[in-house]
Amino acid sequence: MAPALNNQLFLSETPDAAIYQIIAGGVPGTLMPTWGSRLSDYEIQTLVAYLRSLEESAPSILPPIREP
Ligand code: HEM
Repeated sequence: MAPALNNQLFLSETPDAAIYQIIAGGVPGTLMPTWGSRLSDYEIQTLVAYLRSLEESAPSILPPIREP
């Protein structure tokens, strides 16, 4: 359900401000929750920084997702 974020495609195409907005506001119509009401601005910024830190070593292609 929730996509793996540790991948080159997502990290290279999504600026920090967009990642922040996705975390804070969720993705309407999906299971991705809105975290803006539960996490502080600082906490969301640390999540963005953490995801950005993965970029250098992130795999370029995700392994296939197998249905159970
Ligand atoms: C603090 C924890 C979380 C963070 C930092 C986070 C972050 C993100 C980000 C950045 C995306 C966008 C990915 C993209 O556009 O490729 C995303 C999408 C998504 N997340 Fe989360 N997420 C979190 C927790 C969760 C949880 C708990 C769930 C499920 C209950 C969830 C479900 C989803 C789903 C289903 C999407 C895809 C939405 C779509 O179809 O566009 N996430 N999340």
